[in-house]
Amino acid sequence: MELFGKMGRLPAALLSLFFILASRVSPSIAGDTLTPTQPLADGQELISAGERFILGFFSPIKTNNCYIGIWYKVSPPTVVWVANRQHPISERNGSLSITVNGTLIITDQNSKTIWSSGSSGLANPVAQLLDDGNFIVKEANIPGSFAWQSSDYPSDTLLPGMKLGWNLKSGLNRNVTSWTSPSDPAPGPYTMGVDLHGNPQIILWEGSSQLWRVGPWNGKTLAGIPDILRYKIFILDFVIKNDEVFYMYNTTSTSFITRLTVNYTGFVQRLVWLDDSKMWSSYMSEPKDQCDYVSQCGAYGVCNTDDSPICSCLQGFKPRSPTNWDLREGKDGCTRRMGLDCQNGTDGFVIVKDVKLPDTSRSMVDRSMGLDECRATCLRNCSCTAYASANINGSGCIIWTTELTDIRVYSFGGQDLYVRLAAADLGPGLHHSHSRTMVGTVVGCVLGTLLFASVGICIWIQRRRRAGAITFASHRNNEYKEGKDWELPLFDLGTIIVATNNFSIENKLGKGGFGPVYKGKLGEEQEIAVKRLSKTSAQGADEFMNEVTLIAKLQHRNLVRLLGCCTQGEEKMLVYEYMPNKSLDAFLFDKDKGVLLDWQTRYNIIEGIAQGLLYLHRDSRLRIIHRDLKASNILLDKDMNPKISDFGLARIFREDETALNTRRVVGTYGYMSPEYAMYGAFSVKSDVFSFGVLVLEIISGKKNRGDFISEHEGNLLAHAWGLWKEGNGLELVDESLSNSISIAEALNSIKVGLLCVQECPKDRPTMSSVVLMLGSKNTSLPDPKHPGFFPTRTSSEIESSKSKTDSASINELSVTIVEGR
Ligand SMILES: *[C@@H]1O[C@H](CO)[C@@H](O)[C@H](O)[C@H]1NC(C)=O
Ligand SMILES: *[C@@H]1O[C@H](CO)[C@@H](O)[C@H](O)[C@H]1NC(C)=O
Ligand SMILES: *[C@@H]1O[C@H](CO)[C@@H](O)[C@H](O)[C@H]1NC(C)=O
Ligand SMILES: *[C@@H]1O[C@H](CO)[C@@H](O)[C@H](O)[C@H]1NC(C)=O
Ligand SMILES: *[C@@H]1O[C@H](CO)[C@@H](O)[C@H](O)[C@H]1NC(C)=O
Ligand SMILES: *[C@@H]1O[C@H](CO)[C@@H](O)[C@H](O)[C@H]1NC(C)=O
Ligand SMILES: *[C@@H]1O[C@H](CO)[C@@H](O)[C@H](O)[C@H]1NC(C)=O
Ligand SMILES: *[C@@H]1O[C@H](CO)[C@@H](O)[C@H](O)[C@H]1NC(C)=O
Repeated sequence: MELFGKMGRLPAALLSLFFILASRVSPSIAGDTLTPTQPLADGQELISAGERFILGFFSPIKTNNCYIGIWYKVSPPTVVWVANRQHPISERNGSLSITVNGTLIITDQNSKTIWSSGSSGLANPVAQLLDDGNFIVKEANIPGSFAWQSSDYPSDTLLPGMKLGWNLKSGLNRNVTSWTSPSDPAPGPYTMGVDLHGNPQIILWEGSSQLWRVGPWNGKTLAGIPDILRYKIFILDFVIKNDEVFYMYNTTSTSFITRLTVNYTGFVQRLVWLDDSKMWSSYMSEPKDQCDYVSQCGAYGVCNTDDSPICSCLQGFKPRSPTNWDLREGKDGCTRRMGLDCQNGTDGFVIVKDVKLPDTSRSMVDRSMGLDECRATCLRNCSCTAYASANINGSGCIIWTTELTDIRVYSFGGQDLYVRLAAADLGPGLHHSHSRTMVGTVVGCVLGTLLFASVGICIWIQRRRRAGAITFASHRNNEYKEGKDWELPLFDLGTIIVATNNFSIENKLGKGGFGPVYKGKLGEEQEIAVKRLSKTSAQGADEFMNEVTLIAKLQHRNLVRLLGCCTQGEEKMLVYEYMPNKSLDAFLFDKDKGVLLDWQTRYNIIEGIAQGLLYLHRDSRLRIIHRDLKASNILLDKDMNPKISDFGLARIFREDETALNTRRVVGTYGYMSPEYAMYGAFSVKSDVFSFGVLVLEIISGKKNRGDFISEHEGNLLAHAWGLWKEGNGLELVDESLSNSISIAEALNSIKVGLLCVQECPKDRPTMSSVVLMLGSKNTSLPDPKHPGFFPTRTSSEIESSKSKTDSASINELSVTIVEGR
């Protein structure tokens, strides 16, 4: 029991999420692989290579039944997959083995087989637990292959990279089913899966009835979970091909521990593990309100939780049963006021804005048709009741020819629906409803639509889905890119001289920490920024190239892209993409330009910097500590997306990487953590400190060092801390934001900023926690402690007190100190 002794201290509500493992843990067998000669005995474990997952024997709370499962290696462990869900081992001494012909079998103490995976016909089979939680059976010496995998048979949990949905060739249907109870992993009543009818949708069923329609894919997310787009940490994908229809999600960083679970009380929860607080934080929990439950307002009804009663009829419709409707029972739905007049061609459409599109299980979809053609197609078919864009960006076409059910209103991320009405119902001011969905009308111009009559209808019919013949393209939403192996372009000096007009003063963009930067133009088109490194680097050319090649492989949308380099004689130069909007400080600390950064933009900038820094700290093969993160090192692209620059330069300049202390302190006062400024001790946590300063600067529009006049004397950190302690945190916010501010987001960001600048590095969160805390709306964050105030001395004071050699290269605020040996 020693492993799980902590459980007693958990809140009771949490307890049910976790499961006590069998107590008899004896030495695990070697690593992550099971071979025919070495079965896994009760008490032994397989551990995935990166130690994220464990496979072994466990017993749920309050039972002696024993199961083989896979769990996240967090404390307490969280089971994500169970092999023998319905067939527990009732006594001890069970075992898991792989037979010589590649079948996984679980046997009980009498060697009776109680579960098996089906045969795989391999010559030399092994079973391996992978670091994404997948347990595969494969041929021993063939990497990447597999004959059976646990992720094809999900239990109650979908992990990143697992597929939910169909393999149409083999008929395999992967769905996620709740446990029966916390002590019984057997399939319970709640199942989430992909329904292939019409435009494919994800549905949560209770038994055989629909409980919540997660809905069809709209190019960015599923129609029923628009909120997920607020969280930048998830990447969703829905693939519709001839042989496969499935949903999958991933996270923007492999460092996140996350799961999507259907719990035994019938909720779909999206949870993320917060390592700092040792708990699962809920990012999504559905169904979340009454309007999520399927078809609360019946046919042609609209559900809106902001209205009372929540049900109203679409424009042009009236309650089917006014008595029930008055009793607030909307399930009967609504019926048309005036019949359609298809023959005479006078029908038109009304736009219903910001809704979850109606049930698409009997709709037709064409991913390539535009909206005008969609409308024309609908008008031509007398049974068409509505149409809409298939994708949230306005492309594609869905047509309904049946009643419209399960429509609800969203305040964020809904779509436009065009409902067909008789001409007489189209006019404004016709009806009772105050719902804000009844906006505007589109009067059908029937003659006009004839112009659209085209080959479209033939294509339409051809493309109609027949079972097993779905022909739509896959829609990827993959913003995240891993660096690929590629050759770093080498520019010769001549090219650079031409591009920068011989480093002319007009082309000079500024001077950064390691040398001046010039704007240049390669050929007619491509604008570049050239950083001419100061000649103090001790590196030889080969070493320099190695470093630059490594750094060039770091690719992330929040890092400035390194295009190549140039080294010739004494000269060493780096060529970057050019950022038209220059650096963040130019906007932030300028009264006139600061106004251009509204709250949403600033919040996006904060999130973007956090993602970029997390990537440097966690994702790459190199762990990069930036060491000079500041507003002038954040560049903005044409859409005001932030990109971190100058990362990796400390490496090129060969600081001692292994030791915690460095003799050269490179950095900028105002952003330096106390331990770094005073002792030269750097770590990822010193970057976190700089990030915290940056967050507070972005919110306040004020420099940490600068003329700071306030009742909380000192710098911005002291000021922010003082206001926060008084409960006046919002006073920190830049006045120019008063119109665009989201109070909740602002308070959350200030708190995160303060957590990052805490005096003690151990107290500061890691960047992965920061990203999660910024994204999460409902997690209670710890209270920040006193920030590390770095005394606002001038650089000359510091130099005289600290450095013996004073080769300080000073640009605006940047200072480099080299201490004597
Ligand atoms: C399990 O196996 C061990 C060793 O084979 C044996 O001593 C023990 O009695 C068995 N326990 C049960 C419950 O069968
Ligand atoms: C597995 O191999 C054994 C021994 O070669 C053989 O007797 C058995 O029929 C095989 N089972 C299957 C399912 O192929
Ligand atoms: C998920 O994202 C990670 C990077 O965060 C990537 O390495 C991995 O290949 C992705 N998985 C899938 C199934 O796309
Ligand atoms: C879930 O998948 C299982 C196995 O493929 C299948 O038997 C079951 O009918 C599916 N349930 C639903 C609701 O799709
Ligand atoms: C809209 O989104 C879909 C799916 O993501 C994509 O295939 C299509 O190219 C996009 N169209 C436009 C005009 O952006
Ligand atoms: C299931 O999810 C709901 C909604 O998040 C939550 O209130 C409930 O506590 C969860 N049940 C269990 C057993 O975790
Ligand atoms: C169609 O138009 C004709 C002539 O305007 C009218 O008499 C007839 O009632 C209309 N049909 C319908 C179904 O409204
Ligand atoms: C109209 O839609 C119905 C229902 O899908 C379909 O059966 C019918 O063929 C369509 N009619 C035309 C003219 O396209």
